[in-house]
Amino acid sequence: MSLAARVPTAAGRGALRLYAGAPAGVRAHVHVRWWSAPFVPVADALPRAGRILEIGCGHGLFSAYAALAAPGREVVGVDIDPDKIRAAKAAARRWDPADGVGRLSFAVAPSGAVPPGPWDAVVVVDMLYLLPEAGQRRLLEEAVAALAPGGRLVVKEMGTEPRWKLRWNTWQETLSVKVLRITAGSSFDFVDPAETARWLEELGMTTATRRLDRGRLHPHHLLVGTLPG
Ligand SMILES: C[S@@+](CC[C@H](N)C(=O)[O-])C[C@H]1O[C@@H](n2cnc3c(N)ncnc32)[C@H](O)[C@@H]1O
Repeated sequence: MSLAARVPTAAGRGALRLYAGAPAGVRAHVHVRWWSAPFVPVADALPRAGRILEIGCGHGLFSAYAALAAPGREVVGVDIDPDKIRAAKAAARRWDPADGVGRLSFAVAPSGAVPPGPWDAVVVVDMLYLLPEAGQRRLLEEAVAALAPGGRLVVKEMGTEPRWKLRWNTWQETLSVKVLRITAGSSFDFVDPAETARWLEELGMTTATRRLDRGRLHPHHLLVGTLPG
C-alpha cells in the first residue's frame, strides 16, 4: 500500500478536524490511528445506512469517520474508558449541526456489555485482543444476538500471519498496554481469524475474510459476518 493510500480522505479529514480543540495528546493519538489503521476498507465493509454500533471506540475517530463517510449511517460508539469517551463526546459536539447532529454519539459501557439493538451492524476495531479468547467469543455472541436480521458484524483485528508482523505487533502492544498504559487492559490475546470466523459460522453467519496488511507493518485483518436476512 502506498503512502498516498493513507492520506486522509475528505471524510477522514472531516473526522480529524473534530479533534482540533482536543488536548495535544488526543490530537496526536487520533492522527496516529488514522495513519496506522486501515479505516477506509473497514468502513467500506459497513452498510451505507442504518444503526451502527462500535464497541471499544476509544476516542471515537473510526465512528466519526464512518458517520461522515455515509450520511445514512447513525453511529454509536462505546468504550470502557471514561477519559476517551469524554474526548469522543467533545468531538461529536464539534460536528457541524447542518451535517446531521444525532448521527454520532458516544457512551461509556462496562466491559462485555453490548447496548441493546437491533443494530444493522456492529463493528470492533483493534479491541477484541484486549480480552481473553473466551471473553472475545462471548462478546461476539452477544453482538450477533443484538443484530437485526441481515445484520453485519465487522471485525478488524490483527491476524496471526505473517509471524514477523505478529511479533512486531506483540512487541508494540506490550509497550502500549503493559508499559505505557495508553490502552486499557492488562494482557492481550491474538486469536487466529479463521477461528473467529468459525465462531460466527456456528452462529449461522456467512463470513468473508480479507488481509489488510499489504504495505503495512501490522498484520491487519478484516472479518465480516452476515446474518441471513
Ligand atoms: C486500540 S484501542 C482502539 C480504539 C478504536 N477502536 C480505534 O480503532 O481507534 C482499544 C480500545 O478498546 C477499549 N477496550 C478495552 N477493553 C474493552 C472492553 N472490554 N469493552 C469495551 N472497550 C474496551 C480500550 O479502552 C481502547 O479504547
